Amino acid sequence: MTENNFNILVLGSGGREHALCWKIDQSPHCNKLYCAPGNGGTAGMAENVPLDADDHPAIVDFCRAHDIDLVVIGPEAPLVNGLADSLRQNDIAAFGPDAAAAQLEGSKGFTKDLCAQANIPTAAYGRFTAPKPAHDYLATQTVPIVIKADGLAAGKGVIICETMDAGHAAIDHIFDGAFGEAGAELVIEEFMTGEEASFFVLCDGKNAMPLATAQDHKRVGDGDTGPNTGGMGAYSPAAIMTPDLVAQTMQSIIYPTLDTMAARGMPYRGVLYAGLMLTDEGPKLVEYNCRFGDPECQVLMLRLESDLVPALMASAIGDLSDTELNWAPDPALTVVMAANGYPGGYDKGTTINLNALHEDEDLVVFHAGTKTDATGQLTANGGRVLNVTARGKTVAQAQTKAYAGCAEVDWPEGFCRQDIGWREIEREQT
Ligand code: AMP
Ligand code: GLY
Repeated sequence: MTENNFNILVLGSGGREHALCWKIDQSPHCNKLYCAPGNGGTAGMAENVPLDADDHPAIVDFCRAHDIDLVVIGPEAPLVNGLADSLRQNDIAAFGPDAAAAQLEGSKGFTKDLCAQANIPTAAYGRFTAPKPAHDYLATQTVPIVIKADGLAAGKGVIICETMDAGHAAIDHIFDGAFGEAGAELVIEEFMTGEEASFFVLCDGKNAMPLATAQDHKRVGDGDTGPNTGGMGAYSPAAIMTPDLVAQTMQSIIYPTLDTMAARGMPYRGVLYAGLMLTDEGPKLVEYNCRFGDPECQVLMLRLESDLVPALMASAIGDLSDTELNWAPDPALTVVMAANGYPGGYDKGTTINLNALHEDEDLVVFHAGTKTDATGQLTANGGRVLNVTARGKTVAQAQTKAYAGCAEVDWPEGFCRQDIGWREIEREQT
C-alpha cells in the first residue's frame, strides 16, 4: 500500500455511491477511484467496472490486480452476505461491518433482542417463526400495530396495520412467502408515534463518532401520502435532533448497542444508521441500517467540509479517536427524480438531458439509476434516477435552489415530490 495515495473501490450503483465517489474524488489521498458497477454519474469521476457484489473471489482478484487499498461497500445486501469478511480475510481493507455485525440490519429480531438485553428504548415486540403463536400474540395487542419480515426486504418488509384483520392478514402474507426467505421469521411491534429522524454514527469497533442528522421522505406523494419508497428526498441537518437529543441518543441507544456488540464478539465497524422515532418519552430506535442512507448520504456529503478518506480508512482498519469531521452549518436538501410509475412499474431507457442545468457550486446532481448508452446519451436505468441536491442558508433556500435545478432537467418521463423539506420549512417560518 502506498501511504496516503490510495486506490479505492466503491461498490454500488445508487445516488449514495455517486455522492461517496464525488466526495472521495476530492480527497488528496485518493489516487485512482473505481466504482462497481457504478452509474452514469460515477463514470465522470471513477472508472466503472462490471463487478458482481455476490462474486467475492472476483472482487478479491480485482482488488489484488489493481492494488486496491480500500473497498467502500455502499448497500446492505453485500454487507449482510459477508463481503467485508471475505475482503478482510484477504487482507484488503473494507469500509463496512462484517456479516455478524451487519445482522443489526439483516435481522430485525436480532436487533430487538439486543435492545432488550441492553435496555435500549424501542417498541415492545414479539418474535415468531410460525403463524399460530404470531396470531395468538397479535390477539393480545392493540392497533395500530406493525408487522415486519425479519430479514432484508428492500425496504418493503414493514406493514403498518390499522385493524386486527389487517394484522392477521399481514402475518399470513409474510409466512406465505411474500418476502421469500426474509419472511421465514417475523416481528410484531408496538406502533410508536412521533417524528422520525435519521442519525448516522461512524464506528471503528470501539469508538463511535456522531456524523450528522437528516430527515428522509419515504412516501411517494406530496404531504407524505401514498406507498413507501426507498426515499424521495432528504435534508440535513434535522434541527429537531437538538444537541441534547443527540447526546441522549448516543447514551441510551448507540453506546449500549456498540458495547453489547463488542461484548458478543461482533465489534461494529462502518457507518451505523439509526432510524429514530422522537417520542414524548424521548428518542426510541425504529431500526438500524448498517450503511449510509440513500438519499441521506447525498445531503451529508454536500455538507461535509473535511476529507472523507482518512475517516473511512480509520473506521475500516484503524482508530477513530483522532479523527475530526467538520460539517458546514448550512443545510443541504436533495430532491429525488424518479421514473413515472415508481415505486410500481416504470420504463427504463428514456432519454435524460442535463445540458440546461446552470452552474452553481451549491447545486450538484447526483445520479442514481442512470447509464450512458452506446451513443453517449444519458438514459434512465432504474426507479430513482437523479438526486438534485443543493445547499442554502436555510432549508427553504436549499429547497428553492434544488427545485430550480429540477426544473432544468429535461426528462419528461420523470417526476418528483414538490414538498421535500416541508416540516423543517414550516418550523423555519414560525
Ligand atoms: P423500515 O423499512 O424498517 O425503515 O420501516 C419503514 C417505516 O415504517 C419507518 O420509517 C417508520 O415510518 C415505520 N415504522 C417501522 N416501525 C415502526 C413502529 N414500531 N412504529 C411506527 N412506525 C414504524
Ligand atoms: N432512505 C432510507 C434508507 O436508506 O434506508
